[in-house]
Amino acid sequence: MEKRDTNMDGFTQKIEEMAETRQISLELLDYILHRATEEEREILFSKAREISQAVFGKTVYLRGLIEFTNYCKNDCYYCGIRLSNKNASRYRLTREEILSCCDKGEELGFRTFVLQGGEDPYYTDDRICELVRAIKEKHPTCAVTLSIGEKSYESYQRYFEAGAERYLLRHETANEEHYAMLHPASLSGAHRKQCLRDLKKIGFQVGCGIMIGTPHQTTEHILEDIRFMQELQPHMIGIGPFLAHKDTPFRDEPNGSAEETIALLAVLRILFPKVLLPATTALGTADAFGREKGILAGANVIMPNLSPVQVRGKYLLYDGKICTGEEAAECNVCLRARMTKIGYEVVDSRGDHPDFT
Ligand code: 5AD
Ligand code: FES
Repeated sequence: MEKRDTNMDGFTQKIEEMAETRQISLELLDYILHRATEEEREILFSKAREISQAVFGKTVYLRGLIEFTNYCKNDCYYCGIRLSNKNASRYRLTREEILSCCDKGEELGFRTFVLQGGEDPYYTDDRICELVRAIKEKHPTCAVTLSIGEKSYESYQRYFEAGAERYLLRHETANEEHYAMLHPASLSGAHRKQCLRDLKKIGFQVGCGIMIGTPHQTTEHILEDIRFMQELQPHMIGIGPFLAHKDTPFRDEPNGSAEETIALLAVLRILFPKVLLPATTALGTADAFGREKGILAGANVIMPNLSPVQVRGKYLLYDGKICTGEEAAECNVCLRARMTKIGYEVVDSRGDHPDFT
């Protein structure tokens, strides 16, 4: 009993030190991800909550996710909408459909729209810019986030000038060799990182991120990811478990763990107090209460699906995705109730990064 208490004090000490120095060692990261006891995890989560509540209060921001195209020219080994997946039933939302998702979203209280899609050549820069302008014109108090992949500096600049203010582009892994195990040779980790630096330079609020438990991922890789984030200083960090999709080369790979994802959320909150940290749909898929547990581990953003129900079952990056049969309004009610139940309040604000308000 005495010994255990000493160990607990030692762990608490390490978490306090991590919060003070905003640094984490490989040893501690590996321990937290793989060997921490339930009591120790609770110490970690409670520190992360304390920090997130000091910055954001007990509030959760909403982002309405509009999955507007599942056409993609890339062939990432993990992704269900990869070019080579001939079983994917492809769709594109029209401008009018996208605008009506936004109208519905604003009625439901959303003040951020995330336009996410594969790298679809149909959606040229002109079309994206026109769309962004139309959304901003109809919803001037709302923020528009783009999540449409790797583009040139000039294209990003045009999107920004059209009124998009945020951009999500997960770096997937900061390690070049690991990147090459997850992607075909046509894609490089170096280029992806360059895109993130370009986006930041242009003035976007930028989100990077990774999947947890991708094939061949090690704790060293995750530490490299953290170091990359410390250098980039993103405004948002999106993480979720890797979940296998049956029509991809990774079909037989084991899924990433919800527990590890939740522990990493807490670590990220402690290292990046002001960062926007979503409890993702993939986390909610891996664990029925994953999103609640994520919020209780320091996350502060939820991204409900605003896409029309007819296409939801088609934007499948991984198997088993939740909320594909639900109406936007149902997810809205469901998520608000879930947050209330754990003592958090969903706020109808744009939810900018603290440095942007
Ligand atoms: N499992 C979990 N997340 C995935 N993503 C893509 N495929 C999968 C998968 N099989 C994530 C990637 C991408 C984001 C839009 O979705 O990290 O950047
Ligand atoms: Fe979609 Fe609960 S969030 S049904």
